Amino acid sequence: MLRGWPSRIALSNVVIGSLGELSPGAVRPSDKHGEQAALMQETHSTRSHATAPAEPKASTVAVVGLGGIGGVAAGCLQDAGRHGVFACARRPFDCLTLERPERTVSVPLRVMTNPKEAEPADWVLLCTKAHETRSTADWLRRLCRPSTLIAVLQNGIGHNARVAPIAAGATVVPVIVYYNGERLAADHVRLRHVTQYDLAVADDGPGRAFAELLDGTGLRVFLSTEFKTLQWRKLLINAVANPITALTRQRQTVLRREDVHALCLAVLNEAIAVGRADGAHLAGDEAEQTLSTLMTYPAEAGTSMYFDTLAGRPLEIEALTGAIVAAGERHAIATPLNRALLTLLRAVSDAAAQEGQAVRA
Ligand SMILES: NC(=O)c1ccc[n+]([C@@H]2O[C@H](COP(=O)([O-])OP(=O)(O)OC[C@H]3O[C@@H](n4cnc5c(N)ncnc54)[C@H](OP(=O)(O)O)[C@@H]3O)[C@@H](O)[C@H]2O)c1
Repeated sequence: MLRGWPSRIALSNVVIGSLGELSPGAVRPSDKHGEQAALMQETHSTRSHATAPAEPKASTVAVVGLGGIGGVAAGCLQDAGRHGVFACARRPFDCLTLERPERTVSVPLRVMTNPKEAEPADWVLLCTKAHETRSTADWLRRLCRPSTLIAVLQNGIGHNARVAPIAAGATVVPVIVYYNGERLAADHVRLRHVTQYDLAVADDGPGRAFAELLDGTGLRVFLSTEFKTLQWRKLLINAVANPITALTRQRQTVLRREDVHALCLAVLNEAIAVGRADGAHLAGDEAEQTLSTLMTYPAEAGTSMYFDTLAGRPLEIEALTGAIVAAGERHAIATPLNRALLTLLRAVSDAAAQEGQAVRA
């Protein structure tokens, strides 16, 4: 049903990229001034691309992983009521409470805990942490067929390489997540909009189908003609904020120290050289702009890796710093600082995993 990709769409939740997105402000979620200007430009672009309103299509949607991101996605889809939504989680519940800025809703939700119960779906939204992807293989085997699309709502790069081997021939749709999703309890999540768009996908057939899927949910999708650049820009933010807060066990206030700030610049410049070799169009002052963006975040904000470290959970390090080091190797670019961070974080993460195994044994 979804194989005839929409070539033109006119949806209320979509911003379509154009050459304007190459300007740094257009793709920095927290750079409010540049972003406002760029998005005004993009909104104009949306109008000029639009034709007739899209026909509503009902799909079956399986959300795998009901944490902050999956819970918000499932809650928004269920609240919009256009699709048949069910969740694949490790703990059962019947009703999901979603706090969003405009209102709080409680929606009934079918939650499965046994992959054997799952039937093939039109869409899978894979919302686990990147390092948990392999553990969802039993779910994906049951949920996917070649016509299925798997939207991967995870940080990092390399979504296709990570997911395709367990996707049973389904199409992988990488998604950049800009909204903040907080899990307050297993059945209770909170959505915070961080910028004027919540998600970004490539402006291609599967990306447009994803935007269409989310029409009416209130989650705003940016269709990007420069998706790789956006992926690297998000990766750069994560490549300093997450490792440094996790290793120092301090919130983002630590990034404001002069010595740490200088270290971040050096880590970023290594990663930027790799990103450019990988095809991302990164600005001459990309490192400085990335740090300026980080300085707009509250000093008392944590990062997911900081919270995972404090909680003794394994870390999402391979998809972030690991991806930079691996891409550096592919392009023969040395990344000694990122490699040092990776080594230390692997040690932290492996110890957490071993402790977890010992507790479960
Ligand atoms: N949260 C944010 O604001 C945010 C923003 C941007 C990007 N991201 C990215 O989005 C992705 C998801 O992040 P998140 O914050 O939603 O993570 P999270 O809160 O840790 O949620 C992950 C969920 O996946 C579940 N899960 C893991 N393995 C599973 C399996 N085999 N079967 C079923 N469920 C499984 C976990 O279940 P348990 O509870 O049982 O462990 C958990 O509920 C990450 O890549 C993250 O970096 C997050």
